[in-house]
Amino acid sequence: MSHVEEEEGTRRDFLYYATAGAGVVVTGAAVWPLINQMNPSADVQAASTLRVDVGAVEPGTQITVLFLGKPVFIRRRTAEEIEAARDVDMGELIDPVARNSNLNGELDAADQNRALDEAGEWLVMQGVCTHLGCVPLGDGAGDFGGWFCPCHGSHYDTSGRIRRGPAPENLPVPVAEFVDETTILLG
Ligand code: FES
Repeated sequence: MSHVEEEEGTRRDFLYYATAGAGVVVTGAAVWPLINQMNPSADVQAASTLRVDVGAVEPGTQITVLFLGKPVFIRRRTAEEIEAARDVDMGELIDPVARNSNLNGELDAADQNRALDEAGEWLVMQGVCTHLGCVPLGDGAGDFGGWFCPCHGSHYDTSGRIRRGPAPENLPVPVAEFVDETTILLG
């Protein structure tokens, strides 16, 4: 092998390794967010439940809390809102499923299967539009008096059920319970 050939070979090898090295760096950067999601950090794990004091929430108002990185709506409904939610024919619903993590199986989307308490005063839902994930506006927004997602025009009723627009499913009800008269435990 001549001296010139040897040099070329060395240079080619060097270029090869440099390229491979750059490839590894790029792959690492792209894969990291996934790995990161699969291993929630200690503070996220510690926050896998959240106690929410709802003692100051008046009927006809709602609060939004951030839980596991997502907004959760906690609404104290008025008698009119409860009545409107319970007075709906199941046949009118786009999504007939309750989407309630507190119930076993796929119960129908009757308001009684979505509200937190039997009287239906409290409604707890993930505040994430089931279309593409925007946060819907509340406080009676939209054509059905519940929530409205302005991103592409999804209307949810006073039970958080999708009634018009591109969203395919009702707003999901997360695991939640009253642990005393004024405290809701999420998670
Ligand atoms: S994200 Fe809500 S309507 Fe598209």
